Order: sequence, then C-alpha cells, then structure tokens
Amino acid sequence: ATVRYEAESAPATCQGAVESNHAGHSGSGFCNSDNVVGATSQFTVNAASAGTATLAIRYAHGGTDTRSADIVVNGAAVQTASAFTATGAWTTWSTKTVQIPVNAGSNTVRLVASSAAGLANIDYVEITDGDPPQQGDG
Ligand code: GCU
Ligand code: CA
Repeated sequence: ATVRYEAESAPATCQGAVESNHAGHSGSGFCNSDNVVGATSQFTVNAASAGTATLAIRYAHGGTDTRSADIVVNGAAVQTASAFTATGAWTTWSTKTVQIPVNAGSNTVRLVASSAAGLANIDYVEITDGDPPQQGDG
C-alpha cells in the first residue's frame, strides 16, 4: 500500500515556514525550511510490517545551488548528504525515491539539511510497503 504524508500536516513538523506560494504542491502547502545547515522537515509514517519500504519524497528546488540532506529514519542516517537536484523552478516538483528500513507501526523520517541553503521545498513523502492495498489507502 502507498500512503501520503503532507509536510504541512501534523504530526509532521517543518523547521521554517509552511507556505503555499508556489503552485503545484499537494495539500495546502509545503515546507520551506530555514536556509541553514540542520534545518529539518520531519514525518511520522506507518508501516504494516518491519522490513524495507520505498520512500518517495516530493520536492521543488528552483535555485541553482546544490541542496543536500541527510535522510534519517528512526534516528539512523539511511543516506548522508543525499542530493536534491535543481528542478528548474519552485513550481516544478520532482520525486526522489529511496529504500528505507522500517519497523512495524510508527516510524520517524527526518530530512536534515546538510547544505547552508537549507532543504529544497518539501511537499510530501509517500511510503510504500509490502502489504496488500487496503480500503482507505490513497
Ligand atoms: C525562494 C523561494 C522559497 C525557497 C527559497 C530558498 O525564497 O520562494 O520557496 O524556499 O527561495 O532558496 O530556499
Ligand atoms: Ca527555503
């Protein structure tokens, strides 16, 4: 099943501001992180069972600098300084996909900026795990 978690919806947190001024985002907005190393966009995601899940991160990066972030799951870095390449415009959204280890039940996924300009604008994450589709899945 695939479930979407919006960056602007609690329990997700955004170290910066939730904004909606760049079209094409899902939900009511996106996380525009503070432009500092260590700025975070954090999600709480559910997995049906322990194992490996696919995490898709939707983002936009309209600058020309390189944005990078550590992808931290349940406190452990799955990737360090993972590149979020420029998308050409703040209204052009791309999806970056990574395999992550998950526990059954609740998991914390944290994107931590490792570049001085902070994170790309983060729209949502989607997690796909191995369980069959359920009524109510997105
Ligand atoms: C612009 C843009 C923001 C973005 C910021 C940045 O201000 O409007 O959405 O977050 O650049 O470079 O991080
Ligand atoms: Ca920003």
